[in-house]
This record gives sequence, C-alpha cells and structure tokens, in this order.
Amino acid sequence: MDAQYEPTGRWADFLHYIGEFYNMGEYGIIYSTKRWPKRLVKVVNCDITDGPSNIKQTDFFEEFWSREISGLPFISAFCRTKLTKPLKTRLEHGVVGSEADYQEAMNILDMEVGDEMGMWVMEKAAYIGLTHPHITKKEMIKRVAQAAYNIETETGFVLTDLKEPNYGFRQDGSAFIFDFNYNTPSIKEFTLDEYYQQVKYAAWD
Ligand SMILES: Nc1ncnc2c1ncn2[C@@H]1O[C@H](COP(=O)(O)OP(=O)(O)OP(=O)(O)O)[C@@H](O)[C@H]1O
Ligand SMILES: [Mg+2]
Repeated sequence: MDAQYEPTGRWADFLHYIGEFYNMGEYGIIYSTKRWPKRLVKVVNCDITDGPSNIKQTDFFEEFWSREISGLPFISAFCRTKLTKPLKTRLEHGVVGSEADYQEAMNILDMEVGDEMGMWVMEKAAYIGLTHPHITKKEMIKRVAQAAYNIETETGFVLTDLKEPNYGFRQDGSAFIFDFNYNTPSIKEFTLDEYYQQVKYAAWD
C-alpha cells in the first residue's frame, strides 16, 4: 500500500465503537456508540475541500483530547487515520436504516478510501444549549462562558462560534463545549466577560 494511505492509530477499535447515526451538523456526523449509551462518536473528513475547519478541529482534539481540560467533553478515544475500506463500510452501515437521509449524510462525509479522517469518542451532553431544567438562563450562560474561558486558558486558543447547538450540560449542571472554531493565540484573548457576552448574543433569538 502507498505509504501516504497507510492507516494510523487505533482505527480498528473504532469499528467496534461506531454504532448508529445519531445526528449531523454541517461538517461532521455524530454516531452513537455500540457499547456506551452515554457516549457519542464524532467523525469528520479532513480532506473535504470547502475549508479547513475539520482539519483544525481534528488538530485541536489530537493535541488536547487526553488532558481532561475542564470545559471540554470527556474524551475516551481519539484517532486520526487514512480511511480504510472496513471503516468506510462501518460508517456507511451506521447510517443505513437510521432516520437520516443516507445521501445527505454521505455528502457531509464525502469520503473515499485514503481520505484523512478524525474521530473521537466523547461524553454525550444530557442537555443541548441553554436547556438545563434546574438552572436559570443567566447562570447557564455564565457556566458556558466559564467553560470557554477555561479552555482558552488551558490551550491558548481563542474560541468562537459559541452557539447553542455547540455546547451542552451534564445532569449535574456543569457545562461543556463540544464544537467550536478557534483562532491562533496571536488573536487577542477574550476575557471571561467577553465570553459571557458572546454566549449571550449567540443565544439571543
Ligand atoms: N457531545 C455531544 N453530546 C450531545 N449531543 C451532541 C454532542 N456532540 C454533538 N451533538 C449533537 O450533534 C449536533 C451536531 O454536532 P456538531 O455541532 O459537533 O457538528 P458540526 O457538523 O461540527 O456542527 P456545525 O454545523 O456547527 O459545524 C449538535 O448540535 C448536537 O445536537
Ligand atoms: Mg456544531
């Protein structure tokens, strides 16, 4: 096999992790796991051509997934690999028979054997957006802002795109952010209050 197409990491483990289609965004597909009802697998294709966001997200989690940074989801496994045939088949089969539109989901992954993929197993939020039933909206915004600020402090990256579908809450009321864009450290860092304003205005409609 051409060296540049060699799969890397624990990609075969993900054959056992990836379950059924769970949800999708503009750029990634979320699967349930076969083993753990409270964890999800996110899969992105780093070789899709319309922008660097999947590469950036994969770079970020590759560097930080195992550091247990407060404000990020707990991540139990990560893999960046060239796509193999068995993995491609598993990703396709996870969508077949689900409520997702098969073609729509496949267009998001837009995958060919040999493409570089990022995948990680993360905890599933009990509540998405500002929907925790026992916490005021103001307090929820505060906790999301604090999560973003912690991530910035721990990683040095400035977080953006802090809209409701990109974060959630655990049953115990702690917040974490599972999807975001980020800027390099050369960009001015945000204060805790600036994150508060961002989360508030992003949720404002
Ligand atoms: N850890 C998680 N816990 C619960 N739900 C999640 C989790 N990760 C993703 N989801 C669900 O899947 C949806 C899409 O996930 P995500 O935002 O990561 O995808 P994306 O393609 O990167 O999104 P975007 O369209 O913002 O680029 C989320 O809005 C959320 O409903
Ligand atoms: Mg998102």
